[in-house]
Amino acid sequence: MKIEQATLQNLSEVHEYMSGIFELKLNGLSIRPNGFTKEETKQYLPEASGSKEKLCAIVRYNDKIVGQLSFSRYSKPEYVHGGKFGMSVSPDHWRNGIGSRLLEYLESWAIENEVEKLELEVWSNNENAICLYKKKGYEVEGSRKNAIKANGQVLDVILMGKILANKTSHRTHAGGEMLLCEANNIEEPCAGKPHAGIVPGATG
Ligand SMILES: CC(C)(COP(=O)(O)OP(=O)(O)OC[C@H]1O[C@@H](n2cnc3c(N)ncnc32)[C@H](O)[C@@H]1OP(=O)(O)O)[C@@H](O)C(=O)NCCC(=O)NCCS
Repeated sequence: MKIEQATLQNLSEVHEYMSGIFELKLNGLSIRPNGFTKEETKQYLPEASGSKEKLCAIVRYNDKIVGQLSFSRYSKPEYVHGGKFGMSVSPDHWRNGIGSRLLEYLESWAIENEVEKLELEVWSNNENAICLYKKKGYEVEGSRKNAIKANGQVLDVILMGKILANKTSHRTHAGGEMLLCEANNIEEPCAGKPHAGIVPGATG
């Protein structure tokens, strides 16, 4: 198993992977009535390697893409130290540590590229993903109540984030008081949760 960075040159194979994943109508992923288009895929791919704005990390197994993570840095000056990402792994390869490896890859890339805050949105019924994010040190920062209606369910969008910047960096409260950032209070993630879903063979 190998993680590499995709660019626009990889458009066809990344599109093939993404449209395959969305066809599965997995829990927690938005349904695209027209499928996952090439145009949409393009938005996730940097034009060339070395981009500081976008990362599309792909995982190959036997030459086939089996997982991907796409990060985009925010563009407004007040937000540019952070960005947002989404990710997926092919169900045949779930629970083999690929999602964790992708998050570790993102974190190293983010530190190298001076990204200080990683953010994501996840549906409240997406237990697998919430467990993974908590395990990797992401905290729940809020929610958008009843934001989703899917398969007869009304769901919240959970906002999660991880601060990568040095814990001694200062931030200012609304009142103007300077406080030291507190260490991330990482909850015990999904302790004792049984393995669920498909348990594939070795990932190589
Ligand atoms: C969420 C997702 C990326 C996890 O990928 P993965 O490669 O299976 O993740 P990992 O193997 O690294 O799992 C890491 C931890 O996450 C948790 N986890 C992942 N899948 C789980 C499951 N099916 N049940 C319970 N916990 C799960 C566990 O704590 C696991 O650690 P463990 O196996 O040591 O117990 C994958 O399930 C997926 O692609 N889902 C569909 C797309 C999606 O929901 N993307 C996120 C949208 S916000």
